[in-house]
Amino acid sequence: MATIDIIIGSTLGGAEYVAEHLETILQNASHQTTLHYQPDFAQLSAKRQNDHLWLIVTSTHGAGQVPDNLAPFTHALAQESHLSGLRYGIVAIGDSNYDTFCAAGRQIDELLEILAAQRIGERLEIDVADGELPEDSAENWLETWLPLIDKS
Ligand SMILES: Cc1cc2nc3c(=O)[nH]c(=O)nc-3n(C[C@H](O)[C@H](O)[C@H](O)COP(=O)(O)O)c2cc1C
Repeated sequence: MATIDIIIGSTLGGAEYVAEHLETILQNASHQTTLHYQPDFAQLSAKRQNDHLWLIVTSTHGAGQVPDNLAPFTHALAQESHLSGLRYGIVAIGDSNYDTFCAAGRQIDELLEILAAQRIGERLEIDVADGELPEDSAENWLETWLPLIDKS
């Protein structure tokens, strides 16, 4: 069983819905989860341990910007010097009609990589323009992500 902090970046509720959907699946699989609608970086980074993972689910807004609710978290992340030992997964949601497709998720993933955090699996990029239900794409990805938690 893992303890997973689900960190949400959402403006219109789409990414929030995907995060809540993933939380239900994780809880059904007996993992402990907490949803963070207004993620507090200091609090989240203080309790990071090996059995503690972050699952970041964020859309992109503006011209490639992080949603407002995730901006303080992202700002604090950019000030951090290292996050070694942290394991995370990331689901980026965007629209391929924008040049800045999934830029927020990509930016956070890059920051975490620079800080030596360990990404579990590949970053999922959901394109809301492709007609698939975002929660279905996320659910399929989670099926491949979950077994990796114990292996890495
Ligand atoms: C004003 C606006 C700006 C957007 N900018 C981007 C963008 O720069 N890159 C991108 O990939 N998607 C962009 N999107 C698409 C959103 O990321 C997408 O609709 C997403 O599902 C919204 O999720 P949310 O409801 O959690 O905010 C934009 C959407 C809106 C309404």
